[in-house]
Amino acid sequence: SGYNVAIVGATGAVGARMIKMVEQTSLPVNSVKLLASSRSAGKQLQFNGQALTVEETVPESFEGIDLALFSAGGSVSKKFAPEAVKRGAVVVDNTSAFRMDPKIPLVVPEVNPEALKLHHGIVANPNCSTIQMVVALEPVRQAFGLKRVIVSTYQAVGGAGNRALKELHDETEACLKGEEMEAHILPVAGDKKHYPIAFNALPQIDVFEEDGYTHEEWKMIHETKKIMCGGDMDSKDIKVTATCVRIPVPVSHSESVYFEVEDPKATVKGIQDALAAAPGVVLQDDPDHQIYPQAHNAEGSKDTFVGRVRPDQETPQAFHMWNVSDNLLKGAAWNSVQIAETMDKMGLLHVQ
Ligand code: A2P
Repeated sequence: SGYNVAIVGATGAVGARMIKMVEQTSLPVNSVKLLASSRSAGKQLQFNGQALTVEETVPESFEGIDLALFSAGGSVSKKFAPEAVKRGAVVVDNTSAFRMDPKIPLVVPEVNPEALKLHHGIVANPNCSTIQMVVALEPVRQAFGLKRVIVSTYQAVGGAGNRALKELHDETEACLKGEEMEAHILPVAGDKKHYPIAFNALPQIDVFEEDGYTHEEWKMIHETKKIMCGGDMDSKDIKVTATCVRIPVPVSHSESVYFEVEDPKATVKGIQDALAAAPGVVLQDDPDHQIYPQAHNAEGSKDTFVGRVRPDQETPQAFHMWNVSDNLLKGAAWNSVQIAETMDKMGLLHVQ
């Protein structure tokens, strides 16, 4: 008994964390299959101290699979997720392939687990930056209502994959040796120009849209609305805007979040209390002792850390906070496995 689990993209930065999260899951697991491209077929990876051989992803890989976790890029998900569902697997997809499909739930278990009831085999995992922001905003909304959000992100290089992490490492080394830094991947693999990320900050994550926003910013805006406003990606109930910036930190995204609430009685203390009591949130907010969330400390944790809660000095019912989370865990691998655990508890971990 137990679930047969497949991890697609098992050799990647997120895939490595998916393996760890499946090792730690409360789900009953019967077997685990590690999938990637033909490039990695035959490679051995550890699962619970046991060596497993990575296989190439083909439609037949999903025969007998109950749960398939995808993190191998949007085109791989588009091609193989329907194949997995056809063979009876529930897919939790960490790419952007299905996030904006109105028939596919986009879920953060702390915020909108009820959306899982509408699934037809595929559930989408939101963008990493969106996830940690809505985990921190949901308790504020529940306590005081939420009208408007303006976020600026400080995003880790690991979100762009293992090759981008190597680029950060190589550029840092080159720069310290006084050599020329070479950029081939960031800001966006496949875009026309590339810039070093080492000792830099790049205000471009994903490609530019016609309106001057990047696609990452577009995702933060519309995913937040879809998750927090009952599935409506264009809802006017909460105004959201974003500026997304890549910084030379390997793992863990940080965000500066400005938010306006509905309740005129909202206070910093009230917001801190709501955050401290919220699932998935750890309040680290003590300026007198220089206590605040830091990317360096968040790595390896499933939680979202929040601090620097303070009122705006001029706008009433407006506040600022700083939130930090491991983008590869809560932002990706852990949220995906947590979705599967939540579906199991709700009796929904089967294709319906
Ligand atoms: P592979 O090791 O075979 O290239 P990252 O996000 O760190 O760049 O990792 C991307 C993941 O997606 C890797 O596990 C990679 O496997 C996998 N992947 C890339 N292309 C494909 C494909 N066509 N089919 C299956 N997996 C793929």
